[in-house]
Amino acid sequence: MATTKQLLLAGVFLVVLVTKHGLCGSAEEWKARSVYQVLTDRFGGPVTDSCNLNDYCGGTFSGLIDHLDYIEGMGFDAIWISPVVTNTPGGYHGYWAKDFSTINSHFGSAADLKALVDAAHRRDMWVMLDIVLNHVGPVGSQFSAITPFSHPGDYHPQCSVSQYVCFTEEVLHCRLASLPDLNQQNATVADELVAWVGRMISEYQFDGIRADTVMYINQDFWARVQAEAGVYIVGEVYSSVECNIAYQKHGVDATLSYPMFFTLRSVFQDGQSMNLIQSQVDAYKGFPDASILGTFIDNHDNPRFLYQNTNKIPQYLNALTFVLFSQGVPIVYYGTEQYFAGGNDPANREILWPTKFQTSTPMYAFLAQLNSLRKNTTAWSFPQVQRYSTDNFYAFSRGSTLVALTNSGASFDISITYSPYTAGVKICNALAVPADSDCLVTGASGAFTVSMGKGLPKIYVPAAAESA
Ligand SMILES: *[C@@H]1O[C@H](CO)[C@@H](O)[C@H](O)[C@H]1NC(C)=O
Ligand SMILES: *[C@@H]1O[C@H](CO)[C@@H](O)[C@H](O)[C@H]1NC(C)=O
Repeated sequence: MATTKQLLLAGVFLVVLVTKHGLCGSAEEWKARSVYQVLTDRFGGPVTDSCNLNDYCGGTFSGLIDHLDYIEGMGFDAIWISPVVTNTPGGYHGYWAKDFSTINSHFGSAADLKALVDAAHRRDMWVMLDIVLNHVGPVGSQFSAITPFSHPGDYHPQCSVSQYVCFTEEVLHCRLASLPDLNQQNATVADELVAWVGRMISEYQFDGIRADTVMYINQDFWARVQAEAGVYIVGEVYSSVECNIAYQKHGVDATLSYPMFFTLRSVFQDGQSMNLIQSQVDAYKGFPDASILGTFIDNHDNPRFLYQNTNKIPQYLNALTFVLFSQGVPIVYYGTEQYFAGGNDPANREILWPTKFQTSTPMYAFLAQLNSLRKNTTAWSFPQVQRYSTDNFYAFSRGSTLVALTNSGASFDISITYSPYTAGVKICNALAVPADSDCLVTGASGAFTVSMGKGLPKIYVPAAAESA
């Protein structure tokens, strides 16, 4: 039986592990997670084959609950859902707030949202809420339409953002895409926004936050939001490495890995040199912690990777392998598993249900394999070490896992001499089908030759450790 002292110690330990609102979801814990991003309106909805992508298509929280199996089947253990508050007309995406105090009835009720978080938590799946604190829906000067920010003094004076440069007065205080810009210099407004974040976290038990348009609000405000939230925040700073670094240095846990996104698109879509990856990894050394950024190759704001590139499936598989195995919290956009190829929004916000949530696509199996291997090897817990880089080949290791990538789309052999292995170790490409059909034994000093077949990625692990 535990002594009083032991119980007391256990209690202290527990208090240390949980966050402000009594939840899990610290930045450190998110490193082990893998995120599937959905737009609630587009994921699980009615049985229709088409819809006007500029307006609501009918996806709901219960539609999400019904298909958590589909998400879990690919090995994801977190979902990022689009913003949930009531929006102005046409705000199917959620980024046009009208009433911060109510849940968007197109997606369901507050009870439905709680049921979604509960259902996810029952399968140890975390839920990340998308929040928009920079602006509200497009109401011009009709501020009375907005709750609770109904007063002209709640907004910055009218002007438009034209130069997307971080920390300028224009970016911080003018309107982005004509959307009324909330005035966080007004203490009443800032206090209310910060308190709202706290209420959302404690009421719905979200495990993390994706913050929209972070670059358009001052850094002190975000430091306050981070402190109030108490859970991991990954913020959108659609800009340079320097701007992203600044926000992390100023107290936001993480930002979305936009600089690496641009690099990955250049390398895997446009065929630019893979040496660019290492340059970007070097630039990332400026982050206090580069391993906590949200890494991605697709999202709702950019044409999908396969748009006008349906012939680049091998390159896409390489890019996704990088997303899942490089430093950072991987985020995969819904529809990837169905080879969606939509262009600029709303075309990249397709409805998923016409696919009937089929789990038989090779991409669905590939993502499941990557997530499984990421977990088995605990890739996130080892530093990322570059092993080889040329224009068309890039290899890095995490512990005893070696990831070999190419953007060439072709077959070739390459010899790795700087390897994480010793001599005489049997290693196997864990992505090979059937399993164990692509193994080799390392030579002197652990050197070996990688045969890249048909431009596909490889992930080597020591034979015995494959299913650790
Ligand atoms: C700040 O916001 C409050 C609440 O809406 C409002 O009453 C007040 O007038 C605003 N202050 C300024 C200086 O506009
Ligand atoms: C991960 O480990 C499990 C359990 O040992 C095993 O079934 C699975 O095949 C492994 N995954 C991969 C991709 O090797």
